[in-house]
Amino acid sequence: MNKIKTVIAAGGLGTRLQGFRGNDSTKILLEVDGSPMIVRQIEQLSKWGLEEFIIITNPSFDELIKGVITSHFKEKNISFTIQHEQKGISHALKCAEEYIHPGDTVFFILGDNFFENNPSENLNMQDLAKNKGAYIFSYKVNNPEEFGVAELDSRNNVISIEEKPTNPKSNQAVVGVYIYDDTVMDKISILKPSKRGEYEVTDLNNLYIQEGKCKNVSISGWWIDAGTPDRIIELESKLT
Ligand code: G1P
Repeated sequence: MNKIKTVIAAGGLGTRLQGFRGNDSTKILLEVDGSPMIVRQIEQLSKWGLEEFIIITNPSFDELIKGVITSHFKEKNISFTIQHEQKGISHALKCAEEYIHPGDTVFFILGDNFFENNPSENLNMQDLAKNKGAYIFSYKVNNPEEFGVAELDSRNNVISIEEKPTNPKSNQAVVGVYIYDDTVMDKISILKPSKRGEYEVTDLNNLYIQEGKCKNVSISGWWIDAGTPDRIIELESKLT
């Protein structure tokens, strides 16, 4: 049976947030309007109707993160897996491989990405499982060079994605949520590390593009990548 498995990347150390509000652990536990960021994230995803979660942690904070989550969500279906080395976003997703079965759809989100609206609300996940492929989501920004940048055709097909390009081909930033079919783990297996030594999510998405199987959805409402103090404060103003 086709299931949607929601994988949350929560292993990043969040170096840009070290020391902010006395934070000396991991950004995913930083309080956002009174609740740890990972709790806010699971609340957001539950509101969107997602139910089965796999959380990628890191070796230093695994026990701490698990403790916070299990004390907040006693009834939810949540599994944990550790990313032992910080080798990039695609590498993090690969750590969830044992939970992804043939026919499953993978809803992958970076733990610090928050949205006004559910980006996938108009998508047919059953169709994706049957016909295969991936969805990426984009948002118009003034500083595309800080993100993955999508080049789109008039029918919203993705022509290319470049990771933090010096000369962006568009102002469409690729946000930190991705939906993949069950071939995703095999695709990650063939990735090579990028120049900065990471298995990039952009390289994974480009494999789907090469197959002609990557669609874009332009999101509505606000999007916040809460990786800096300013962005956390902005997120709090949106949540209240
Ligand atoms: C990552 C991705 C990038 C994406 C961004 C969204 O970048 O590599 O493609 O646009 O998340 O939040 P990072 O924020 O890890 O530098």
